[in-house]
Amino acid sequence: MKYLIINGSPRKKNTWAIVKRIKDNLNGDFEEVNLSKSDIPLCNGCQNCFMKGEEYCPHKDYIMPIVEKLRDCDAIIIAAPVYAMNVSALLKNFFDHTAYFYHRPEFFTKKAIVVVSTAGAGQKKVANYIDETLRHWGVNKVYKLPIACGGKDSLETDKIDKVSEKFRRDVESGKIHSPKWSDIIFFDVWKVMALSDDPIPADKKYWDDTGLVNHDFSPEVKLGFVKKIFSKIMFGFLKRVI
Ligand SMILES: Cc1cc2nc3c(=O)[nH]c(=O)nc-3n(C[C@H](O)[C@H](O)[C@H](O)COP(=O)(O)O)c2cc1C
Repeated sequence: MKYLIINGSPRKKNTWAIVKRIKDNLNGDFEEVNLSKSDIPLCNGCQNCFMKGEEYCPHKDYIMPIVEKLRDCDAIIIAAPVYAMNVSALLKNFFDHTAYFYHRPEFFTKKAIVVVSTAGAGQKKVANYIDETLRHWGVNKVYKLPIACGGKDSLETDKIDKVSEKFRRDVESGKIHSPKWSDIIFFDVWKVMALSDDPIPADKKYWDDTGLVNHDFSPEVKLGFVKKIFSKIMFGFLKRVI
C-alpha cells in the first residue's frame, strides 16, 4: 500500500510524533509532503483553477506535483496542529489551492486518516473541518484522530493504535464504502451546475470528460437502490432550484 502523508505542521513535534506512531501501525510505503518545506505561495484568489482549470493556477508548479502524488497513492494521512481554533495556515493554504476539488471531486476510491494535534482545544472541530474538506474532494472514507497533547506526558497511544489499525485494515481490504447522503447531495449539486445553461467551463469539461454527468454517483462507488433513487430525486429537485 502506498500512503501519502501531507503534514501541515512546521515542527517535528506533536503532530509529527502522532504521524510516526500511525506509520508504525501500517504496512506500506510512505511518501511525505511537508508543507513547511514546500514553500507554496499564498493563494492569490485569481479563481483560474475554478474557471479555466487547475493548470492555469499561477502556483501550479508547487501544487500539481502534490496532486499527482494524491492521485498515485492508495491512502492519505493528513495532519495539522490547531492554530487559533483552526488548521495551520500551511494546510489551509494547500486547501485553498485545491478548492477546485469541491467542484470537480476525484478521489472516490481513496481513504484517509486525519490527524489533529492541539494543546487542549479545537481538535474535534478542526478534524471535522478536514474531514468535510476531504469528503468534498470525493474521498470515500475518513478516519479521525483528534489528539490533545497539552499537559500530558504521553500521547494517547491506545487511541492512535486503535484508529490506525482500523484504517490499515480498511485500506488493505480494498472495500469501497457507500457514500453519505451529503456526499450524494453535493455530487448532484455540481452535476447540475455542470449541466446548466451557463456552466463554469472547467467544471463542464471535467464532468463531461470523466462521464460523471451520466451517473448518480461516481461509478467506482456502488450505490444501493435507495441511494440511487435518492440521487435521481435530488438531481431533479436541484435542477429546478439552481
Ligand atoms: C500559532 C499557534 C496557535 C495555537 N492555537 C491553539 C488553539 O487555538 N488551541 C489549542 O488548544 N492549542 C493551540 N496551539 C497549540 C498547538 O495546537 C499544539 O501545541 C500542537 O500540538 C502543536 O503541534 P506541533 O507540535 O506539531 O507543532 C497553538 C499553537 C500555535 C503555535
